[in-house]
Amino acid sequence: MDFSTIKTELDTNIFTITINRPDKLNALNKTVLEELENAIEQVYKDENIRAVIITGAGEKAFVAGADIAEFTEVQDDEGAALAQKGQNIFFKIENCPKPVIAAVNGFALGGGCELAMACHFRLASTNAKFGQPEVNLGLIPGYGGTQRLTMLVGKGKAMELMMTGNMIGADEAKSLGLVNYVESSENLIPKTKEILNQILTKSPLAISKVIEAVNFYFNKEGFNEEVKLFGDVFSSNDKKEGTTAFLEKRKPVF
Ligand code: COA
Repeated sequence: MDFSTIKTELDTNIFTITINRPDKLNALNKTVLEELENAIEQVYKDENIRAVIITGAGEKAFVAGADIAEFTEVQDDEGAALAQKGQNIFFKIENCPKPVIAAVNGFALGGGCELAMACHFRLASTNAKFGQPEVNLGLIPGYGGTQRLTMLVGKGKAMELMMTGNMIGADEAKSLGLVNYVESSENLIPKTKEILNQILTKSPLAISKVIEAVNFYFNKEGFNEEVKLFGDVFSSNDKKEGTTAFLEKRKPVF
């Protein structure tokens, strides 16, 4: 399959999907999301693929969020639909019957943190940084972040991270349970493959049932509420000010 914003590679049953817009810190625009969805659909169908790694191109970022520049092209009343679309793609990742691990190699912010959290678990490089900075833009997470971050790190820390928009480093992310291992940049993919190779010695049927059972822990209603609330803030003046300020490289005034 030909892609323009992601790269894919199959190496003895392990399929690596690399988000590939390093000049924009791998921000998720419409094309990236469409291509990511196509790649995940390929994972469901292709019997040669038994496990997946999702990572980012370059040394700086995993994914620095949804593409903020593209938000200006979306109508005020299309926010909820935008969030729903992103959530649906991330559900395909989360519900994938084959193991999907995020190898977080730099900034994982906003939609990037949400993408990492939709994966079954995460490894991070020492320079990785996690955060949900949507409040800086007059927004809230819309691709499942309000739900998955709360599940992963607990309500108090999730509230703090989403209300301050602060970033945390890899070691703190590990201490909170957001990532399972912290590795040097060079060792990030080898360690991820080592873990996947161990998983691949187990029963694929049993692994798929682990994924299915664990995912039942989630309450779908929370995700629906997030879509609605994202739609509400998307049409606000604060969102206009926040996104404009980012693109004009200045601080927003709310
Ligand atoms: N959407 C669109 N473009 C983005 C982006 C995003 N989420 N994140 C970074 N970029 C672009 C920048 O606009 C810049 O483009 P330019 O070179 O054409 O000006 C380029 O990527 C490099 O980013 P820059 O901000 O110059 O790098 P930095 O090292 O100074 O800062 C970050 C890195 C991650 C702190 C900063 O880019 C940032 O805050 N990004 C937005 C994070 C965010 O709010 N994500 C949630 C979105 S909902």
